[in-house]
Amino acid sequence: MRRLLITGANGMLGSAVQQYLKDDFEIIAASRNELNIQDFASAKAYLKKLQPHLVLHAAAYTNVEEAERQPQECYSVNYNGTLNLINAAKGFSHKFIYISSTGNYGFGKTEPYAEYDEVMPPTVYHKSKYLGEKAVQELCADFLVLRTGWLFGGSTEHKKNFVYNRFIEAMSKDEMFSDPFQTGNPTNTSDVARQIKKLIDEEVVGTFNVVSEGNCTRYEYVKEIVSTYGLNCVVKPTDKPFERLAKVSPNEAAVNFNLTQMGLNVMPHWKDSLHHYINSIQQHA
Ligand SMILES: NC(=O)c1ccc[n+]([C@@H]2O[C@H](COP(=O)([O-])OP(=O)(O)OC[C@H]3O[C@@H](n4cnc5c(N)ncnc54)[C@H](OP(=O)(O)O)[C@@H]3O)[C@@H](O)[C@H]2O)c1
Repeated sequence: MRRLLITGANGMLGSAVQQYLKDDFEIIAASRNELNIQDFASAKAYLKKLQPHLVLHAAAYTNVEEAERQPQECYSVNYNGTLNLINAAKGFSHKFIYISSTGNYGFGKTEPYAEYDEVMPPTVYHKSKYLGEKAVQELCADFLVLRTGWLFGGSTEHKKNFVYNRFIEAMSKDEMFSDPFQTGNPTNTSDVARQIKKLIDEEVVGTFNVVSEGNCTRYEYVKEIVSTYGLNCVVKPTDKPFERLAKVSPNEAAVNFNLTQMGLNVMPHWKDSLHHYINSIQQHA
């Protein structure tokens, strides 16, 4: 069985991918304790010992706000950490899969972004993710750069579980407010895992958007979460965008143009996936 190294294995996406691919690969699930990607010498020794055939790089500095205050730390993890891993994997790993963000496209457009659009990363986090992308594209022959966004899913215990956190919030409130000015594609981590499997199986290389079909505003997203749970809390739109240090683009929505052109798109509509996810949480509660 081929060995697949997953970095950031305890993260929201890393844990979902691990779960989904465990029957098809021998998974090397590396948390930060086992593999700190900022430490090149130990990353090199770790990969030399375990010799993975594929690397799925899901570890990242993901606090977009904090990155504005700590740019060096963010670049060190997202750019230098990626460069370290590419070099550490040289000679053992044939495929390098890098998880990136549709937020990288920036401010150019009001319609959903396709891969042919120019990338103009708007924040420190997105600049660092884009540098990581470029390193992978330039240095790895067999690569996948996958741009996703607005991830949800996995365990309800995960602190970043947006859907479950809104459920908890809505349980204790009569009304809550959400941003109607920001647009994206709520995307289930297990759908991303299925798309990754498809791309590995098809032995495809390249740069792909990997988001759910359809898009919505944060406000529409939160409203859909609350109504799917059947809660009485009223969701209202804010009258202006949330104040943020990181000037993220109001439009992070994308379409899977490249996947669709190649007949490889397996991503469902965000509402179907959200309903399915909430139903499965309720069944296991
Ligand atoms: N969440 C989204 O909506 C979204 C959108 C677009 C793209 N992405 C990308 O998708 C990937 C997965 O994101 P996620 O939401 O699953 O993030 P996450 O839950 O924050 O997981 C990131 C993981 O990276 C690990 N990590 C951080 N620094 C590290 C280091 N120096 N060495 C090794 N591991 C380190 C973290 O470990 P600790 O737990 O120890 O900190 C954490 O487990 C990332 O590349 C992210 O940029 C996410």
